[in-house]
Amino acid sequence: MRIAMIGTGYVGLVSGTCFSEFGVRTICVDKNAEKIERLTQGRIPIYEPGLEQLVAKNVRAGRLSFTTDLETAVDGADAVFIAVGTPSRRGDGHADLSFVFAAAEEVALALTKPTVLVTKSTVPVGTGRRVREIVAKARPELEIHVASNPEFLREGSAINDFMRPDRVVIGADSDKAVAVLRRLYRPLYLIETPIVTTTRETAELIKYAANSFLATKITFINEVADFCEQVGANVHDVARAIGLDGRIGRKFLHAGPGFGGSCFPKDTQAFVHSGREFGAPQRIVESVVKVNDERKERMAERIVAACDGSVDGKTIAVLGLTFKPNTDDMRDAASMAIIPTLQTEGATIRAYDPVGMTEAATLLPGVEFGADAYAVLDGADCVAILTEWNEFRALDLDRVAAALKRRVIVDLRNIYRPVEMAAAGFDYYSIGRPAMRSGEQGKATKK
Ligand code: UGA
Repeated sequence: MRIAMIGTGYVGLVSGTCFSEFGVRTICVDKNAEKIERLTQGRIPIYEPGLEQLVAKNVRAGRLSFTTDLETAVDGADAVFIAVGTPSRRGDGHADLSFVFAAAEEVALALTKPTVLVTKSTVPVGTGRRVREIVAKARPELEIHVASNPEFLREGSAINDFMRPDRVVIGADSDKAVAVLRRLYRPLYLIETPIVTTTRETAELIKYAANSFLATKITFINEVADFCEQVGANVHDVARAIGLDGRIGRKFLHAGPGFGGSCFPKDTQAFVHSGREFGAPQRIVESVVKVNDERKERMAERIVAACDGSVDGKTIAVLGLTFKPNTDDMRDAASMAIIPTLQTEGATIRAYDPVGMTEAATLLPGVEFGADAYAVLDGADCVAILTEWNEFRALDLDRVAAALKRRVIVDLRNIYRPVEMAAAGFDYYSIGRPAMRSGEQGKATKK
């Protein structure tokens, strides 16, 4: 089979590469000539574990290629996927669909034979129908089947998520479209991946409902964490115990500084807006958006409080800048809300992140960067752990203690055990667990 993937952003590049790994001849198209040139040389614009090797392997095998020439790429393709960006429109939460519609029209005009046109970008309900109208107007004589095939990839584990998904969702109103998509995903039959076949509107809604539900779960446990802090309870134990109930499930119950990234903030907002538009307000998700935004704003206060109420003239060592580990993505990261606030309040910020510093250097002016975690600690008044990278989980605590001016750690990802940190001589503050002062003995706090 042969496909074209329009857009070499995160979703397009990962999906295109993984389809080629499935044995499908894939041409990835982008208007950005410089990006295509770099990809052709094997240089990957994003940090995603395993992606560079997989691209190289499939390019070598002749199954994967990159071009700016949309017309040639879509010619003769069994399916054309649209994976262009849908940014939030400035000022309101609507997804900006102009790139999707422009791509659909351009593809329709270039096609020479009946084809399945698939939206992979996350798009509000009804977008598929509008795409259908656009292509029907552009090429009334040609049979173009429009389908929706949302992705559920997580940054940092996207290849595994594509190769071993929990499910594949196909939204289409023609048997031809379903048949072509089923053939493309055939390698997944071996691992018995459930394939949900439904209407386009339902498929579009599934994607928003999934992300909004996960964002709700996180926000729920974050508010429970606040409650725990007020009464001396431990949110880890709460999350574990409620998560053991199969109806609730253990995943996405890790309390932290509030969700970020390129998907949850944008998708929850878009869901809220389209819900209102269609007369079905999503009031729970509306609260989730508000609570999460406020939470992020408040996180800097925790660091200020741990520094005896003021960070003026103090040095804060920040470990982790990206919105989560195994990505260089800084979009809506906790660091983006916390660091500028601390700077405004007079703090000097020294930061280290395993892969995010290049991106952070342009986004966070005035931050001094270190070569590793230890390089930012010397003489600092407080350490703030903002991202749970593995390399921060087993720091040499004696070395950390010796380097700091004041042994204060604010761990917004709960990667250490409070008792252990107190025993190691730190004042340790985390999320939803009792704060522990240096030398204190924990009672029932095991985690
Ligand atoms: C998310 C979804 O998990 C994917 O299924 C989806 O395909 C993707 O959005 C998308 O729409 O493209 P991603 O944004 O890469 O993936 O990251 P997640 O691992 O879901 O984390 C999102 C945010 O939630 C991060 O800020 C993370 O720190 C936070 N989080 C996650 C928590 O605070 N607690 C948790 O228990 C889990």
